[in-house]
Amino acid sequence: MTHAHVTSWLLAVVFFAVAYMLYKKGDQKKSKIFHMITRLMYLLILGTGGKMIFDYFTDPTIVNRGPLVVKMILGLSVIGLMEIILVQKKRGETKFMNWVFFWITFLLTMYYGWMVL
Ligand code: HEM
Repeated sequence: MTHAHVTSWLLAVVFFAVAYMLYKKGDQKKSKIFHMITRLMYLLILGTGGKMIFDYFTDPTIVNRGPLVVKMILGLSVIGLMEIILVQKKRGETKFMNWVFFWITFLLTMYYGWMVL
């Protein structure tokens, strides 16, 4: 499940970058397709992450669930920020602060996934 989770978010980041660049180029048709594929990847991230969260929460041997909740909130925030950035780019807007939030949240999520958990 962990492998599927990592593959899903890696693919999401790749498709997100492609969709962003296509929006930047003004290619509305192709960017829409890649945006939809990115959204499909969100579902895979949510499915795999949600399954692992469920398994951990129903495991009575795990005492401290705090870091898991933090990891989940961070992961959900990364997905939210990717979607916000794409929708804004589609409208022709670029908000620098969203990129700042994206990178901070993304790096923190990886730190939590790999170092804390
Ligand atoms: C784009 C968003 C996300 C990124 C970049 C991300 C990143 C990661 C990373 C790097 C790991 C560690 C994998 C490993 O041990 O090799 C991980 C594990 C995990 N993630 Fe995510 N994640 C994201 C979204 C989510 C969401 C939305 C949830 C919950 C619904 C979630 C729940 C989990 C859980 C439960 C683990 C297992 C931790 C463990 O077994 O050590 N993740 N994630």
